[in-house]
Order: sequence, then C-alpha cells, then structure tokens
Amino acid sequence: MLAVGLMSGTSADGITAVLAQTGRRFKVLACRTFAYPPAVRRRVLSAAGLRAPEISRLNMELGGLFADAALGIMGGRRVRVIGSHGQTVWHGPDADPPNTLQLAEPSVIAERTGVTVVADFRPRDMAAGGQGAPLAPAFDEFLFGRGPLKALQNIGGIGNVSVAGKGRLWTAFDTGPGNCLMDLAASLGTGGRLAMDKNGRLAARGKADERKVVLLLKEPFFLKPPPKSLDRSDFGERYLRSHLGRISRDNVSDILATLTLLTAASIADSYRRFILPRFKIRETLVSGGGSRNPVLMRLLRDLLKPVPVAVSDLADMPAMAKEAACFAWMAARAVHGRPNNCPQATGAAGPRVLGKIVPA
Ligand SMILES: Nc1ncnc2c1ncn2[C@@H]1O[C@H](COP(=O)(O)OP(=O)(O)O)[C@@H](O)[C@H]1O
Ligand SMILES: [Mg+2]
Repeated sequence: MLAVGLMSGTSADGITAVLAQTGRRFKVLACRTFAYPPAVRRRVLSAAGLRAPEISRLNMELGGLFADAALGIMGGRRVRVIGSHGQTVWHGPDADPPNTLQLAEPSVIAERTGVTVVADFRPRDMAAGGQGAPLAPAFDEFLFGRGPLKALQNIGGIGNVSVAGKGRLWTAFDTGPGNCLMDLAASLGTGGRLAMDKNGRLAARGKADERKVVLLLKEPFFLKPPPKSLDRSDFGERYLRSHLGRISRDNVSDILATLTLLTAASIADSYRRFILPRFKIRETLVSGGGSRNPVLMRLLRDLLKPVPVAVSDLADMPAMAKEAACFAWMAARAVHGRPNNCPQATGAAGPRVLGKIVPA
C-alpha cells in the first residue's frame, strides 16, 4: 500500500514529504522538501512566545501547508494513509507533567486530501511514561535490525542516534545539537541573510576554538546517560549568546567553525561514552540535512576513526527522506493497530500505538 509521511523538524526549514510503498519491504518512491515561507518560519521559530489565539491560528495554517505538501507528493496517486509529525513548537519531557506540542491540524490535511491521517504521535508515548522522543528508533530497528550492528545517526535540528542490528535495537538517544546552532549563528551573523551555512562554506574559512568546545562538552546534558531527549530551545539564542558572545560579520566564520566542531565532537563524544564501549558497530550511517554539510561530515569522520562514516543514501531510502519516511511507516502501523513506539529509546512503560487517527 502507498503511504505519505510529512515531517518538519526542529530546523523548521520546511515540510519534507515522502511517498512510500509500505509493507514487508519499505521503499521511498518520491521525496521533496516544501520550504516554509520565511514569515511562517519566523513564527514557527518564535512559537514558544506566542499567545493562545496565535498558536491556534498557526495550527490551522500549518495544517494547510502540510496538506499542500501531501497533495504535491501524491501527484494524484491513491494513498491509503498519511502520517504527519507536524511541527514541534514545544517539547518538555522533563517538566511535571511531561508535555509536548506539535502543530499542523490533521483535520485540515484529511479534509483537503480525502485520505486518513495519523498525527500527534508523541503525547501517547509521554502518557506512558516516555520522553516522547526519539521516535525514529522503531523505524531504524525495522530497517536495520536484521543486519550487522550499525549506528544510525540523524542530523536534523537536533542530532540523534540509534544502534541497531543483530536482531534488535540496542540503544537510541539525542546526541546534542544537530544543525540548530549552526543555522542560528549563520542567521545572526549575516543579519538574517543566510538560514544555514550552506555546504559549510563559512565554517571552512574560520578557525575553531577547540578549548571552548572541550569546555562546552562538559555540560550536564552531554554527560547524562541515555535515555535522553532535547528540544531546539535547549540550544537556542540564549545558549549561543552566553557561550559564544556576540556574533557579527567579523567573527561569523570562526563561530561557525567552532559550532561545526562542537556538533561533530558532541556526536563522537557520545559514541565514545555510551556506544563504543558496549557495541562493536561496523559503521555509522548519517541521514538528515547535516549529511549535506561536507565540513561537518569530514570532522565526524576524523573524530570517529576507525569507525567508517557514510551518508545513508540507500537505494530505497535517500538520506534526506528518512525522518519523513518514518512517519509514513508509523502511520501504516497505527491504522492496523500495531505498536510503533520504541520503549527502549523513550523510556515508555511498553509498546504503544502512537498517533491520533482522523478518518478520510
Ligand atoms: N547543503 C547543505 N549544507 C549545509 N547544511 C545543510 C545543507 N542542506 C541542509 N542542511 C542543513 O539541514 C537542515 C535541515 O535538515 P533536516 O534533516 O530537514 O532537519 P529537521 O528534521 O530538523 O527539519 C537545514 O536547516 C541545514 O542546517
Ligand atoms: Mg527539515
């Protein structure tokens, strides 16, 4: 059966839409990212400060944009189900009670596409005592569980890793910042002209402050053993300003070099602490937008030696498609009443069917 997956991650760069063949064999047939209009992106990034009427409106508006993305990727084909992650505007796994909020009203997507929509996956995992994140490990286990041991590293706004193979998923957790600090610094240092350090061009010209990186890696989050999950707000403007000072045209390259190193080193460090001593992994496969940054990839390769690091561009699953594909897969399981969470990764009390179903 055909399923669509819709995802906008913490980068808030836009909606990644995937059309996939699901079932025993999972195959991505098409993948495209529909960029957010700049004004929408700005509101999403500052959504934590919006008031209820504005949040409510943004929810319906994003529903419309997600519906457009679904229709765009469907191209007139008949689809059984759409899995929509929505846009996280708040994630508070350590609050009392733990809470999380994803926007992009699924009723709008169902109404506009005429397809059953499964959305809002995280709250059920939290209600069952989990962190509501990361969700991808269940899909990693499905894709890679039967092969040799591998680390599957996604680098979106936040970085997260799963270790899967030899019959199961072994561990999974957020490694720290993904692209979020680099994106923010690129924007702040260019007066909003750049939304990312494309191909690591700025970082390649700068000089990293290695001592600062060593110091920053001593922060509690990095030392805490899994399970653990993060929100972009943990690595936001306040973090940047307090640890790296003012960012201007003059120092933006050096700051990006430092943040690119911090990102790579936080991943490598977490492997040395929590993965390599316990698991003999054969390689690391990198997915998500960070896999498109050659400076970041080079640093990661250096720091993880002798473990090989490759971009996770598989025939059935391009690196940029994996997160969105995960929600197509989760939705297909949800409509059949089959569990789709990963209790080992989130700390939930057990297997659960995540997602709320809006009928076609
Ligand atoms: N060519 C590139 N060079 C550097 N960074 C890139 C490139 N392409 C994408 N990215 C990074 O990837 C991010 C988007 O990655 P994505 O996997 O969609 O993350 P998320 O799941 O958080 O939306 C962008 O914000 C940007 O930082
Ligand atoms: Mg994205």
